[in-house]
Amino acid sequence: MKKIIFILCVCLVFLLIVWLVGYMHNVQAEKVTGGYIASTRDTDVEIVDIDDLEDLAEQVIPSGGFGYIYGGAETEFTMARNESAFDCVDIVPRVLTGVVEPDITTSILGIDISLPVIAAPAAAHGLAHVSAEAGSARGVAASGTIMSVSTYSSSTLQEIADAGQGAPQWFQLYLSKDKDHNRNIVKQAEDLGYRAIILTVDAPVGGNRFRDKYNDFKFPLELPNVAKKSIKTKGQGINKIFSAAQNELTPYDIMYVKSLTKLPVIVKGIQHPDDAETAILAGADAIWVSNHGGRQLDGAPASFEVLSDVAKRVNKRVPIIFDSGIRRGQHVFKALASGADVVAIGRPVIYGLALGGWRGVVSVFNYLKDDLRRVMILAGTENIDDIKNTKLRPRISCVNSCE
Ligand code: LAC
Repeated sequence: MKKIIFILCVCLVFLLIVWLVGYMHNVQAEKVTGGYIASTRDTDVEIVDIDDLEDLAEQVIPSGGFGYIYGGAETEFTMARNESAFDCVDIVPRVLTGVVEPDITTSILGIDISLPVIAAPAAAHGLAHVSAEAGSARGVAASGTIMSVSTYSSSTLQEIADAGQGAPQWFQLYLSKDKDHNRNIVKQAEDLGYRAIILTVDAPVGGNRFRDKYNDFKFPLELPNVAKKSIKTKGQGINKIFSAAQNELTPYDIMYVKSLTKLPVIVKGIQHPDDAETAILAGADAIWVSNHGGRQLDGAPASFEVLSDVAKRVNKRVPIIFDSGIRRGQHVFKALASGADVVAIGRPVIYGLALGGWRGVVSVFNYLKDDLRRVMILAGTENIDDIKNTKLRPRISCVNSCE
């Protein structure tokens, strides 16, 4: 009997210790995220299809935060089309090419990268993982590519630069109404070694994000790069934060940002060839074709559908970065064959972060490296220039139909 009581006591003590460890873990997470429990995972992530990460991430990111990260505008028609639009062109496989080890390295604005995929700027990684953008930056650096950092990041620019340890980083700027703040934040980014400024021009107002409204989503964390005098970000929804930014944007704002920095200025959120022209005339050093992941104007075309027309107008005067809907190697291939120099991923980085911390981010980039290599071998393309010179075939069934 004594033996049984002893064993029961040992079991109880063990359970108590397990519970205490879990509790302390959550307390730690709460301390970092102010009551909002973000993931603390630290593991590689097995990936069959990046789309699967969505469902998995939904299980670890609290619902308001997940809705904000995942959500697009209104009924998410444009968001869904971002991915399905890639199905309207085919890569005609080439055989007997002898290609078995394609070279996926490339460069953009003088920066060598290990694959033609970079991290897009996306707000508040702290919603997904306690390490926030510092964790993403570590994963992106380990993947040998560029980390773009949002003005609305939840880590500070310093923390992100430290985590990147000299790896290339770009700073995405939402202009503030406070001119001093604009000058200071650009200077801070420059001093910390960020290598380009991305000026986002497609968000004079936030899209109508039904999910955030249903969830009554408010940021549970501070966004430390936003001007303190313009708004207190914690406890605000994204529309309030957008409306506190400088929302009247013209080509003069590109010239203004150029006047603040010697760094290249990339203009992000271009979907019309005329706007690409305007941005280049105002001094843009690169054009970023994007519909903001379908988060702004629902009813707009998929980003991929406008890419070739913009690329034709840009005509190689400046490099083109492309985002919205990239989930597989074939998407990367099709975007490069349609005029992009590199592509960017937003949500997949955050899902990788939520599911595995910085290691999860590396898993996402590794997946895309492997998948792109596979697609290149099957298409008989040796390197990135070969992809750019590939002619895609319009899918017959897509030409006159709305699929
Ligand atoms: C968004 C911004 C902040 O799409 O980029 O929510």
